[in-house]
Amino acid sequence: MASGNGSNFQALAKSCSTGELNANISLLVVNNPRCGAKYKAEKLNIPCKTFDHRKYQSRESMDDDILNVFKESNVEAIIMAGWMRIVTNKLIKAFPNRILNIHPSLLPCFPGINAINQALDAKVKITGCTVHMVCEKVDSGPILIQAAVPVYEEDNLAILTSRIQHKEHIILPMGVSMAAKSWRTQ
Ligand code: GRF
Repeated sequence: MASGNGSNFQALAKSCSTGELNANISLLVVNNPRCGAKYKAEKLNIPCKTFDHRKYQSRESMDDDILNVFKESNVEAIIMAGWMRIVTNKLIKAFPNRILNIHPSLLPCFPGINAINQALDAKVKITGCTVHMVCEKVDSGPILIQAAVPVYEEDNLAILTSRIQHKEHIILPMGVSMAAKSWRTQ
């Protein structure tokens, strides 16, 4: 699931094609019809479905449709690679411990939106990124893997984002692989 540029989605797709991750991305779900992730999926020949949140009355009705598509596609796990919408308990309960998210901070610091700006405002010297399981409370599920990133005086949002994303692209496939080991024994 993605809403933005899709650099994490692309990193995951690459790790599947190189064999670093023994997985197959059967479907990309986006909520923004013009997001970069969608164009990246087209280039990679990965099926993509759009669920435009502006066309739904409630989060539940959107998640119902998304859930149906996931079931039709026989997905075994869901990776939120820059999915910027809160998901409902319905989706979370349908895939217990099988939904992962990547967040651009060292959780539990700076949850929610604007995590990178929050780190800049707080003037921390170290921030980073986290891959975690998704639970009902936003950005709070069990942590699988984190990477630390230094913050320098002269950093701005663009520079720090790029430094964090470089690490995200490394730890996201690693986090998926770690979680998959526990799924295989279930
Ligand atoms: C990432 O920084 C991720 O941590 C956050 O949204 C951003 C998505 O970037 N949740 P991209 O679309 O993968 O380039």
